[in-house]
This record gives sequence, C-alpha cells and structure tokens, in this order.
Amino acid sequence: MTIKQRLALSSVLLIILPVSAFFVIEISLGYLFFIAPGMDINEENMGQFTTVRFVLFVLSVILINTMLILMLARSIISPLDRLSAATKEMGEGNLDVKVETGGRDEISALAREFDEMRRRLKMEKELNETYEEEKRHMIAGIGHDLRTPVTSMKGYVDGLIDGVAKTPEKREKYLKTIAAKADELDTLIDELSLFSRLDEGRAGLLTENIGLDQLLSHIIDEMKLELEESGIELSFENIAGETIIPADRSKLFRVFVNILNNSIKYRMHEKHSIRVQLSTADDHARVIVSDNGKGIGREALSKVFQPFYREDSSRNKNTGGSGLGLSIVKSIIENHDGYIDIESEPERGTEVTVGLPLSGGIK
Ligand SMILES: Nc1ncnc2c1ncn2[C@@H]1O[C@H](COP(=O)(O)OP(=O)(O)O)[C@@H](O)[C@H]1O
Ligand SMILES: [Mg+2]
Repeated sequence: MTIKQRLALSSVLLIILPVSAFFVIEISLGYLFFIAPGMDINEENMGQFTTVRFVLFVLSVILINTMLILMLARSIISPLDRLSAATKEMGEGNLDVKVETGGRDEISALAREFDEMRRRLKMEKELNETYEEEKRHMIAGIGHDLRTPVTSMKGYVDGLIDGVAKTPEKREKYLKTIAAKADELDTLIDELSLFSRLDEGRAGLLTENIGLDQLLSHIIDEMKLELEESGIELSFENIAGETIIPADRSKLFRVFVNILNNSIKYRMHEKHSIRVQLSTADDHARVIVSDNGKGIGREALSKVFQPFYREDSSRNKNTGGSGLGLSIVKSIIENHDGYIDIESEPERGTEVTVGLPLSGGIK
C-alpha cells in the first residue's frame, strides 16, 4: 500500500473506530448499569453512567488513536531508518550495503533509486581502481623499458672508455650495439608520445577521404621484398575493389604496420605466411590480417590491447617491443569509430580483424 493510501485509510479509521467504540461502550454500559441489575433509570445512576461512559470513551479514543498513529509511523519510519543507516554506511565508504527494495510504496521507490545510485557509484569506483592500477602498471612499464636500453648503452660506452674493446672490430661491434639501442629507445619514445597524444581522441586526427586499398597495397609492396628474402610470404587479396574511407592516413599506416610487424615478429614456422584480405561488410571496410605464427594463449588474448602487456613467452624470447603496439592500434581504430577483433590459437596462428566506416556507406 502506498503512503498516500495508508494515510487515507488511517484518517477513515480515526473516525470509524472511535465512533464504533462509542456505540460498544454505550451498549455495554447500558446493559451493565440498567438491564443486568434490573435498575430503574434515575438521576443518580444516570449521572454515574454518563461519567463512566465519558471516561471510557476518552480512554478508548486515546488508545485507538495512539495505536493507529504508532502503526502508521512505524510503517513509514522503519524503512526510512534502514535507508538512513545505509546512507551513513555509504558515506563511510562501504558501497556493498544492500538496501531492501521490495514493496510498492514511495519509500521503496526511493530505496530502489538509492540502490541504483549505489550500484553506479560502486561501478565507477571499481573502474577508477582499474584505471589507477593500469596507470601504476604503465608507469612501471615505462620505467623498465626506458632503463633497459639506457643501462646497456651505458655499459658499452663504459667498455669503450675503459678500453675493453681493444680491436677495431670489437669497437665497431660496440658502437653498432649502442646505435641499435639508441634506435630502440627512439622507437619507444615515439610510441610513448603517440600513445599519449592518442588520448586527445578525435581532436588529434587529420581526417580525409583515403583509398584503403591503395594504402594497404603500398604498405605490402614496401614490406614484401624484404620479407621474401627472409622466406616470409606476404599476400594481399582485395575483394572490395576501390575502398574509400574517412581516415587519418599516417595513423592508419601505423595501425597496419603494427599489426603486420606482430605477424612477422611472432612467427614459428620456416614457411611463415601472412595474408591480408580487404572486403566490405555492414557499411564498413574490413581488413583481416592472418598469420600461421605462434598464436596467443587464451588468457593473454584478453590482455593484448592493454598498454605494456606482452605475453610472457614474447618477453623471454627477446623479440623486442614495448607492448604498446596493439594499444596504439586499438586507440587509433576507436578514434576512427571502427572496431578491432583478435582471434588466435596457440601454435596455429592469429587473425586480426579491423573494421572502419566507409565514406557514405557501401559503394
Ligand atoms: N600475430 C601475433 N602472433 C602472436 N602473438 C601476438 C601477435 N600479435 C600480438 N601478439 C601478442 O600480443 C602482445 C602485445 O602485442 P603488442 O601490443 O604489439 O606488443 P609488442 O609487440 O611490443 O610485444 C605481444 O607481446 C604478443 O605476445
Ligand atoms: Mg607489437
């Protein structure tokens, strides 16, 4: 029953019950005073009867009203008390307090709203904690990845200064290693700066209508020759024809280079092959990059888009890389309103699917 209905009922009962009590008192007293003892009605016992009737009536009105008001108050105040206790707990930071939300009155509606608010706050708090955790993880990752090449460069430079590298060949080897480490550092700083700029979102994009088919052909032609020399087969199948999409050319270039570099880096067969396919589906251009490489374990698969995440085996194998590649890819794709999916089976291969909205739908 709603509070309004309860109030209406109690005001009706506040009239009906005292009136009924009055009649019950009148009849019972009449019987007790006059009929049972077989007394005549005279002034004296009539006076007594009136006084007793008045006292009993006042008492019954007080009793009935008090009981009704108490019952009404309890039905309103107890849920409010529970709500207020929950608010206090929440104020102290406990977002797990369950508030009873059954019932159909106004307070239950308030309790439901309150519980919804608690749920949202809890979700936000958890999200914040995850974000903080990721941030800590990221800062630790940056620290580690910057320190590693610097430490090694310092070692080789010290070696040169101290004259450890005695022959010209050895000195050249040292210098080449230092140069390679500097390149590694350069790439990492590049990735870090792109990664942080991507936080700006769309604002950082230079969008124009570009031919995705041409962009892919260009990237693949550039990579193909070099890869063929290392025995890696790279093929491109275009079943979409000319595919125009609104995009930032250099950022998309980065997307496919990062995905392809992974397919190249995480190979395991002598006969390694990478296939790129361009098609269209649901107003989107769809690019599938598949390889027959080492694949990704189930648990790792859900984490590959996290900044600095690298599967343990990738870390150990010294393949190089910061674990930022796919987070950058995902960020860029999302800034383009696209989607990215990754499927993989260990020792079988990996398939990355990228979807990007077409200019004005399918042509
Ligand atoms: N094609 C692939 N085959 C196997 N593993 C992959 C592939 N692409 C990504 N991975 C896994 O996902 C991880 C994250 O990839 P990425 O963000 O590009 O970082 P990085 O290449 O610097 O390690 C890699 O360390 C690797 O374990
Ligand atoms: Mg990578």
